[in-house]
Amino acid sequence: MLNFEDSASFAAAPGARFAGTGNAMSNHSENHGYTIASVSSGRIRVEDKRIINSSADVNQLVPFKYKWAWEKYLAACANHWMPQEINMSADIALWKNPNGLTEDERRLVKRNLGFFTTADSLAANNIALGTYRHITNPECRQFLLRQAFEEAIHTHAYQYIVESLGLDEGEVFNMYHEVSSIRDKDEFLLPFIDVLTDPEFKTGTPENDQKLLRSLIVFACIMEGLFFYVGFVQILALGRQNKMTGAAEQYQYIMRDESMHLNFGVDVINQIKLENPHLWTPAFREEIRGLIQKGVELEYRYAEDTMPRGVLGLNAGMFKEYLRFIANRRCQQIGIDLLYPGATNPFPWMAEMIDLKKEKNFFETRVTEYQTGGALSWD
Ligand SMILES: [Fe+2]
Ligand SMILES: [Fe+2]
Repeated sequence: MLNFEDSASFAAAPGARFAGTGNAMSNHSENHGYTIASVSSGRIRVEDKRIINSSADVNQLVPFKYKWAWEKYLAACANHWMPQEINMSADIALWKNPNGLTEDERRLVKRNLGFFTTADSLAANNIALGTYRHITNPECRQFLLRQAFEEAIHTHAYQYIVESLGLDEGEVFNMYHEVSSIRDKDEFLLPFIDVLTDPEFKTGTPENDQKLLRSLIVFACIMEGLFFYVGFVQILALGRQNKMTGAAEQYQYIMRDESMHLNFGVDVINQIKLENPHLWTPAFREEIRGLIQKGVELEYRYAEDTMPRGVLGLNAGMFKEYLRFIANRRCQQIGIDLLYPGATNPFPWMAEMIDLKKEKNFFETRVTEYQTGGALSWD
């Protein structure tokens, strides 16, 4: 389980040494990027770069091998946003108005935040304490650093919504212990995160490389690619009815980030498969199918729990179809046989939300367009 001791044990772990010790230098060839020391005085060659178990110097970003990783890093930076830029006054007024929202709508908002407030911390810890160490390619690491910061922005956004609405922080932040439909999703994820954050864990054997690949698939395709989507649809559906438009705008930006995280994760997974075809066995693929199926069941239970009666024109049955549709897409993205042939998308409007362009804010709660720091001019 993740706890505060993880960071302490990580720093002291044999596999987590930093450059500057002779020991780290001499062990580099077996360490495959677990230290930041460079052992070779020769220039690095593109063909030596690999996603996992690479012996090429992880400090040299160029020459690039995986341009898709660098391009996604640039795209993620261009999408930069901060939660406090979004006006929450309409949400606050609606929340405080006793007739503003139904009890079912309030339950939906609170349970939604109950999942997401802790999920993005889990995501950030998974990247910083786990995934990052095992990915031995600097352009992929560059994206992961950006992704970790975005997970911090997402946690910030959820905290900002909780604070703006004056919700009971103890209630919301403890839902992942106290609400079973949320706890079950997190308990499903934790073993796969624990594998990567274990300071003793190292890649380099077929068994451990499969463990890493399995965890990467669970994180990208099930956590970011499935477990977020009932929550996204619910809050965006509120926004489409002109309710909680500030929160909906925050979720819209978060969903854009998450769709980039998912696509990056899929590219990493497929590249690892390409470089290590021996890992992609029929038994392994069948196991992954089973995990995605389990993910659909857990997310459907969460949909039922957050919408016991149907709300906003949505009901749990629609989500069953939607989750099957998304699960098929995840299978297709990583080359797994479809789980639910023929499933259709009951929420076609979600595609427009994901394709948000910076110039077009769907809910129009912001007055001015966000400018990133990339506009420095020397003229
Ligand atoms: Fe996130
Ligand atoms: Fe993410």
